[in-house]
Amino acid sequence: MNDKQVVAIHAANYVKNGMLVGLGTGSTANYFIEELARRQLEENLNVTTIASSTVSMIKAQSLGLNVIALNQVSEIDLYVDGADEITPDMTLLKGRGYDLVLEKLLAKAAKQFLVVADKSKLVERIGTNFVIPIEVMPMAWKTAKRSLEAIGGVGDLRQNVAKDGLTVTSHGSLVLDMSFDKSISEAQLNQLINNTPGVVEHGIFCGLASGILIAENGNVTEEYWK
Ligand code: A5P
Repeated sequence: MNDKQVVAIHAANYVKNGMLVGLGTGSTANYFIEELARRQLEENLNVTTIASSTVSMIKAQSLGLNVIALNQVSEIDLYVDGADEITPDMTLLKGRGYDLVLEKLLAKAAKQFLVVADKSKLVERIGTNFVIPIEVMPMAWKTAKRSLEAIGGVGDLRQNVAKDGLTVTSHGSLVLDMSFDKSISEAQLNQLINNTPGVVEHGIFCGLASGILIAENGNVTEEYWK
């Protein structure tokens, strides 16, 4: 069993009967979905889920989990998702995929948001290993880019994998992958990007995580908690 699977199975123990559970996106979240489905089948766990992406919804449904739509609820009990980077103050970088809009909505709507990852995701500051994905309205990408450059951002529109077109997210946004000067704090950057017209959402998750579960060599630790 790899560390992503170990931590995902550990997190599934936080799910109690009757909960409405948010499902993340990515390989670690996939293991969580599988474990939830197993517990439903083998332990008679009664659970309703809400997915942060179409791929997670399809996976959950294929395993027999009941998935409802976001517009049916205003609050969820528990959200479990991975992250691309995690800092000591529980700021996250997410959205390497195409689903950060729904991911942030679920993170905010959750009474408890648990982040599951292996040790490789721990960093001192956001932007260490990845650029910051910023979803922008297609008609506003140039003006948004200029505004982001004015606060020190460097980057460009994300290409698709084949490099013959642009990445379009689940919500029809384009993605500006930007890096910023290290002198701007993550909290400041979060605020500045939030205040940029044309930005739909971005990958910095500030003040949203309740706890971080990290697996290393088969053991899980609760690294940071509030
Ligand atoms: C998805 O959009 C991201 O926010 C993921 O949570 C992140 O990429 C983690 O993926 P892995 O669990 O595959 O490492």
